[in-house]
Amino acid sequence: MTVRDSEFAAVALLFFASAQGFVVSEPGFGGWDVEPIPGPPGLPLPVEQFYEFQSLDHFDGSNFQYWKQRYFMNNVTYRAGGPVFLMLGGQSAANPVWLVTGAWYEYAREHGAFMVLLEHRFFGESTPTDNITSSSLRFLSSRHALADTAQFIADLKRWYQHPIQDSKVIVFGGGYSGSLAAWMRSHYPYIVDGAVASSAPIFATLDFTEYYVAVTNTLASVNPACPIAIKNATSTMYEWWGQPDKRIIMQKIFRLCDKINHDAILDLTVFFYNLAENFARVVQFNGLDLQFLGLKNNNVTIEQVCDVMRDESRGDSVHRYAAVNSMVLDSIGQECTNVQYTKLITSLNQTNWGSESAKGGRQRLYQRCGEFGWARTSESMKQSFGNFWTFPWNFTSDQCANVIWHTWGGSQVQDKCDETNRFYGGLELPISNVVFVNGALDPWRVVSSNGTLPNAYGDHESILIEGTAHCADMMPPKMTDPPGLVDARKKISDHIGLWIK
Ligand SMILES: *[C@@H]1O[C@H](CO)[C@@H](O)[C@H](O)[C@H]1NC(C)=O
Ligand SMILES: *[C@@H]1O[C@H](CO)[C@@H](O)[C@H](O)[C@H]1NC(C)=O
Ligand SMILES: *[C@@H]1O[C@H](CO)[C@@H](O)[C@H](O)[C@H]1NC(C)=O
Ligand SMILES: *[C@@H]1O[C@H](CO)[C@@H](O)[C@H](O)[C@H]1NC(C)=O
Ligand SMILES: *[C@@H]1O[C@H](CO)[C@@H](O)[C@H](O)[C@H]1NC(C)=O
Ligand SMILES: *[C@@H]1O[C@H](CO)[C@@H](O)[C@H](O)[C@H]1NC(C)=O
Ligand SMILES: *[C@@H]1O[C@H](CO)[C@@H](O)[C@H](O)[C@H]1NC(C)=O
Repeated sequence: MTVRDSEFAAVALLFFASAQGFVVSEPGFGGWDVEPIPGPPGLPLPVEQFYEFQSLDHFDGSNFQYWKQRYFMNNVTYRAGGPVFLMLGGQSAANPVWLVTGAWYEYAREHGAFMVLLEHRFFGESTPTDNITSSSLRFLSSRHALADTAQFIADLKRWYQHPIQDSKVIVFGGGYSGSLAAWMRSHYPYIVDGAVASSAPIFATLDFTEYYVAVTNTLASVNPACPIAIKNATSTMYEWWGQPDKRIIMQKIFRLCDKINHDAILDLTVFFYNLAENFARVVQFNGLDLQFLGLKNNNVTIEQVCDVMRDESRGDSVHRYAAVNSMVLDSIGQECTNVQYTKLITSLNQTNWGSESAKGGRQRLYQRCGEFGWARTSESMKQSFGNFWTFPWNFTSDQCANVIWHTWGGSQVQDKCDETNRFYGGLELPISNVVFVNGALDPWRVVSSNGTLPNAYGDHESILIEGTAHCADMMPPKMTDPPGLVDARKKISDHIGLWIK
């Protein structure tokens, strides 16, 4: 099994739920456990290839170590003189199904492009080091990923027998890999001619409290009674945590993997956080058909969970909240809900490639601690998933302290976020030839471009698609796509046409 994440690596969708039952949603399609799939009938998937001379440390002039980076190519859409389309992997294994489908495949057909998918270091089969101890993970960063991409493009153009030496290069990505696409264009404009950045978070911040506010608002926009019922459930559950008879009920109806230890206050955090993630997952991926990626059917919708939350025949709000939990567990094939902080931490503390955490959980945490933060907290009164202290910002920084740094956490994560924004420019990045695309339902749009890009120049656009979720524009076009989505894809293709002229 591989994991693909909300950090869409190329896909990747971002979330993930592990067998241990802890859940982390990330930007992109990272996250979910994914079984390899054979691909659409009649469309053989390209074989994996490895670029053998990727530098381990791009920023140390005395380091000459190399490693093998995985990539996939497809030239069926290529026409002489056409561009190279490069999809960037995100925080999960690269999925070769992208070489034969997706909206970018349609753009590739239109523009005669040569398609390449490059896996991100430390995910999938792209393993630069022997293990994922914190010491090894110092080579995991977005800056290294960009430098990998630049080196790969240069060597691809030089060595691949195909006549692409002079081709323009357009990069694509969704979620975190969409951020990489934008940064690739702003940092290497002489190597990359344009970027399509789907649902790309570009503003790093430890305290991403707006995430659950956005989830709440999206639920309210579908049904105002929905977040109110959720708030009632979470307030009631907070009271129940202190009552032995009620704990037994929660134990059963929420399908908890272990007995509640009511003295373990961090277990309360994990419990509330995992339940909130159910809704986040539904909202973030609402209506997306992800089966082509090999993800378990993503058939739970905002309407369905809100119908359950308002269905009095199911009992009180806590029982309805539990019913939603079961719906989501069933839809992702997970048996139980983790409530143990120590279990979460023990899993994330594993450092060998064969471990559960190496599917991506530990690497994603490493990047949150060292670059991006994005702690999705319960700290706003405007969200429904628990009061201020149920899952605060230090839930994330404590994980950094416990399993990454093995030292005090505190505000260090915010220092790293500030550094990231200084390096890339945050929402003020200087950039041209870029399209930022976001779905109005997607909570990640809050830290992506909202149209205000004060230092952008030349050709650029930020598109907000009404009624769609995370990375919807990347999905294979369907007859049922809303007009805003159809229109967005047309605009993207038109921009690409300008950039490759
Ligand atoms: C695609 O690649 C194959 C195998 O490498 C090659 O034989 C073929 O000529 C290429 N097709 C095009 C359209 O460039
Ligand atoms: C991790 O790998 C490095 C070299 O790649 C090695 O020096 C170190 O001992 C390894 N650590 C563990 C805990 O396996
Ligand atoms: C939840 O709703 C019920 C029924 O409307 C109400 O009696 C109860 O006081 C509410 N509980 C909280 C904690 O808001
Ligand atoms: C989703 O699909 C699964 C399997 O196909 C089915 O068991 C489940 O009832 C569906 N859930 C919803 C909410 O439609
Ligand atoms: C994580 O693993 C290290 C090394 O194996 C160990 O020393 C440490 O106690 C572990 N930390 C936690 C929180 O489990
Ligand atoms: C966060 O910090 C508060 C106050 O220091 C502490 O009580 C709480 O246990 C911490 N919570 C988490 C999830 O780390
Ligand atoms: C976009 O984000 C910037 C920076 O956070 C903010 O100042 C601005 O008001 C936002 N614009 C819109 C239209 O939301």
